[in-house]
Amino acid sequence: MGKDVIIACDFASREQTMNFLDKFTEEKPFVKIGMELYYAEGPAIVKEIKARGHKIFLDLKLHDIPNTVKKAMSVLRNLDVDITNLHAAGTTAMMKAALEGLTRPDGTRPLLIAVTQLTSTDQESMERDLLIHEPIDEVVMHYAETAKNAGLDGIVCSPLEAGKVHGRCGENFLTITPGVRFADGDVGDQKRVMTPAAAKEIGSDYIVVGRPITQAEDPVAAYRRCVAEFCD
Ligand code: C5P
Repeated sequence: MGKDVIIACDFASREQTMNFLDKFTEEKPFVKIGMELYYAEGPAIVKEIKARGHKIFLDLKLHDIPNTVKKAMSVLRNLDVDITNLHAAGTTAMMKAALEGLTRPDGTRPLLIAVTQLTSTDQESMERDLLIHEPIDEVVMHYAETAKNAGLDGIVCSPLEAGKVHGRCGENFLTITPGVRFADGDVGDQKRVMTPAAAKEIGSDYIVVGRPITQAEDPVAAYRRCVAEFCD
């Protein structure tokens, strides 16, 4: 299970996405499709990328009442993606309903991962806007344990938290970690970053890498460098 590099295909259109994926003639990278591309192109883009032989992480972060999420998941399960996700803030009932909806009649289902507190939320905004007064690290760990107890497969977290999540939730509970940068690369707007090699060391199962690959002069070389540092 795991140890793979997922490329965040944060593109606005099918054309840009296919131009990018066409560069990969020898390998079929694991691809993350987020809200921008999905809302622009709809389910067809998921089916097309899947048909080209890529694994897919569909990053739509569902959060609604249990019945609505269950029904949405029962539609998404037909897209045959490998991983999808929701907000743990929807609570246990929503996460359990999501799992039910996602499970196909033959018992198979994509992996289901929880988002805990978004990395754009800090202690101050969490206390002010959400009235949550525990330390944010503790809140993230509590959400992780709640997701695990609901039957989910893992969480999205900073690579800096991956070791602690495994300590609390077990080695088999997956950690998918964005915020990855090469040692000699631009950090951009990410604040807490780690190299692919360090993410491997700390125990991340999957790294999600966007701009260091998509904006690289040679994206295929940048992808291979990630794989060499993280997987080999
Ligand atoms: O370009 P970059 O490598 O920063 O892209 C990281 C990807 O991971 C983006 O798609 C971003 O939305 C996503 N992400 C993140 N931090 C989170 C959750 C998701 O950067 N906490």
